[in-house]
Amino acid sequence: MKPIIIANWKSHPDSVKEALLLARKIENGIGAARNVEVVIALPFPFILPAVGLLKKSRLGAQDSFWADSGPYTGEVSVRQLLNLGVEYVILGHSERRINLFETDEMINKKVLAVLNHGMRAILCVGENERQDGEIPQVVGEQLKKALRGVRRSTLKNLVVAYEPVWAISTNAGSIPDSPENAIQASLYIRKVIAGLFGRVAADSVRVIYGGSVSAKNIGSFLSEGRMEGTLVGSASLNPDEFVRIVKNAAGVRLRLT
Ligand code: PGA
Repeated sequence: MKPIIIANWKSHPDSVKEALLLARKIENGIGAARNVEVVIALPFPFILPAVGLLKKSRLGAQDSFWADSGPYTGEVSVRQLLNLGVEYVILGHSERRINLFETDEMINKKVLAVLNHGMRAILCVGENERQDGEIPQVVGEQLKKALRGVRRSTLKNLVVAYEPVWAISTNAGSIPDSPENAIQASLYIRKVIAGLFGRVAADSVRVIYGGSVSAKNIGSFLSEGRMEGTLVGSASLNPDEFVRIVKNAAGVRLRLT
């Protein structure tokens, strides 16, 4: 299985011009990088302009609404994204849970909408505070609630991003995470999914790391941490750093559990 590296640009940059420049630099830089899948999750206004430009990387969005259409002012539907060529949608990011009060129930409806349309969902889960020892149960609870009603046959399109909120670089007082914590999280997430859907189905889900990732630490999260990819925030806005992350990931052979 190839590692998947997802750029989450969040609410950056300010203009189409800057977005296309950034996307072009990433596209040119990743060039011949094989054995790795790259996704760029763009802010909505930049998706259409980027459609013809992204060739080696896939088109992603940072959220979507659960209903196909209707009186939902300001919301963007899965069908609208699908018709633009978007393949991946990030759901349940901690910044949406915290700043926009997204609940597990809302995230569940979005996960169902994305998976039932045959698109790929990148579901973010993770604890707010660092705790020593085991991965906190809240991560399992988030998973169980988000995956309620999901059909086993759609699990192959699910990516679960473990995103320890305390390690996100832009959060005040963030603490660097370790591959030891990442491996615990990856094993725990697989165990919870296996408990819900069975071992075979759980093995078709990709579990990736979504704390703070750089070119320097990505190798350890993929190999020692046994993560199958990463969700990259700040570093994805620096094209040289992001390209290094992709190239370093391409050089790692995944050791799956
Ligand atoms: P960061 O963000 O890479 O800027 O630490 C990670 C995330 O929000 O998933």
